[in-house]
Amino acid sequence: MKGFVDEMRAVAMKLHTKDQAREGEKESVDPPIAAWNPSVDGYLKFLVDSKVVFDTLESIVTTALHPSYGEFQKTGLERSEQLSKDLEWFKEEGYSIPEPSKPGIVYSSYLQQLAENDPPAFICHFYNIYFAHSAGGRIIGRKVAEKILNKKQLEFYKWEGSLSQLLQSARIKLNHVSSGWSREEKNHCLEETEKSFVYSEDIIRLILS
Ligand code: HEM
Repeated sequence: MKGFVDEMRAVAMKLHTKDQAREGEKESVDPPIAAWNPSVDGYLKFLVDSKVVFDTLESIVTTALHPSYGEFQKTGLERSEQLSKDLEWFKEEGYSIPEPSKPGIVYSSYLQQLAENDPPAFICHFYNIYFAHSAGGRIIGRKVAEKILNKKQLEFYKWEGSLSQLLQSARIKLNHVSSGWSREEKNHCLEETEKSFVYSEDIIRLILS
């Protein structure tokens, strides 16, 4: 039998554009990644705002703001420390690290508010952020590294052990936590997916700013 994660994935895949993923159904508005002309400054803004979001997710889970979040401690998917190391590396290379900007700050406060009041919606964002990073996020990382970082692979794109196993364990936990939800709560979680795309895309767009 299929678990709830399959439903979350199906909703997310449809929200991709056709050039992002084979299962995407939306028409593209932004240029495809292959045609991007990124700058290190834009990419740094993206990394800083991504860190704001991962810091927020990881502190919500660490403090188990809601008891069900405790299950998602130490999934191995955490990205905050890796991003700190990457930003340190850029600093050593002589770049100045920007302050967090609006897209990261706005998403982070939205996540904090959901985490306190609306666990099914929060879990939707949790799923989309970590799984998007393991798929599209890596494609972005590879392309940007080819174009402006002399192929340097950042820690943000490295996981300890097998990524597919980490994702699989996270799927099992997501299925377990959501098995306690009513159909209404599940639908509410699925309906939140679109917002996750809107907020994340605002952060991705910083790469081109
Ligand atoms: C999966 C590309 C943005 C959420 C995928 C896959 C690709 C992809 C190629 C794998 C499809 C497969 O399994 O065959 C991209 C690109 C993006 C992007 C190029 C932007 C430039 C996003 C955003 C979100 C998102 C903004 C949500 C915030 C997901 C999820 C999956 C996925 C949840 C499923 C992962 C899994 O089942 O393991 N994406 N994506 N993606 N993406 Fe994206």
